[in-house]
Amino acid sequence: MDTTFTPNAENLPRHIAIIMDGNGRWAKQRGMLRAFGHESGVKSVRETVEACAKLNIGYLTLYAFSTENWNRPRLEVDALMSILMNSLKKELPTMQKNNIRLNTIGNADMLPDRPKKQLYDVIEQTKTNTGMVLTLALSYGSREELTAAVKEICELIKTGQLDTADINENLIGSHLYTRNMPDADLVIRTSGEQRISNFLLWQAAYAELYFTNVLWPDFREKDLHEALISYQKRERRFGKTSEQLK
Ligand code: IPE
Ligand code: IPE
Ligand code: MG
Repeated sequence: MDTTFTPNAENLPRHIAIIMDGNGRWAKQRGMLRAFGHESGVKSVRETVEACAKLNIGYLTLYAFSTENWNRPRLEVDALMSILMNSLKKELPTMQKNNIRLNTIGNADMLPDRPKKQLYDVIEQTKTNTGMVLTLALSYGSREELTAAVKEICELIKTGQLDTADINENLIGSHLYTRNMPDADLVIRTSGEQRISNFLLWQAAYAELYFTNVLWPDFREKDLHEALISYQKRERRFGKTSEQLK
């Protein structure tokens, strides 16, 4: 571990969410196909997962595939799905070794059968692990998530199981994919883009945002530590004044 960039063991985020971006550009810089960038990003996933587990982070959420990513060329979507399937299989021992529980958010029904089965297999096999919850956002889009929540809530009202007066923030939260997770404390996005791209719109309401130019396949433990050190220098005021927090 690079000790010049070691975050303080206290004041770590409980929930880190990462928009893993820049695989395509990383590959292009090397004259390779985009799929090569996605494959190379798997190593960054492994390092990040292990680094977070080592720091006892409670929740790590990785944006792996958005609802909008279905609009990419068929060949790239297929490559991403097969990389997903192979890595789930390959990373299971690492998850077990680190006591990690796998979880997913998103519309899993959209996934092809084989990766979907592999995903649910690993979720099942890790369900009694008590360490970090690793959530893969797959076919995930915040707007779709919120739309589905509105529909569910309307249905409950229509069938008389819920009163409009009972709608509050907790109730809405309980209809999201993230119902059993705390809000994101820190959202990291790699590759220099500074946007949210339909990720955790509700859950990141008060997250600290961290952007780095590092492309995802180059992202390593020291980059995670840099993000955490930046997080630890910030004052999270949640609308209050600085004096009120003292
Ligand atoms: C992120 O890398 C991975 C996914 C969105 C699946 P990109 O594929 O978006 O890479 P760039 O942004 O084109 O470089
Ligand atoms: C966001 O990255 C989605 C994932 C990282 C899975 P994109 O590369 O798809 O986002 P945009 O299109 O540049 O906003
Ligand atoms: Mg991108």
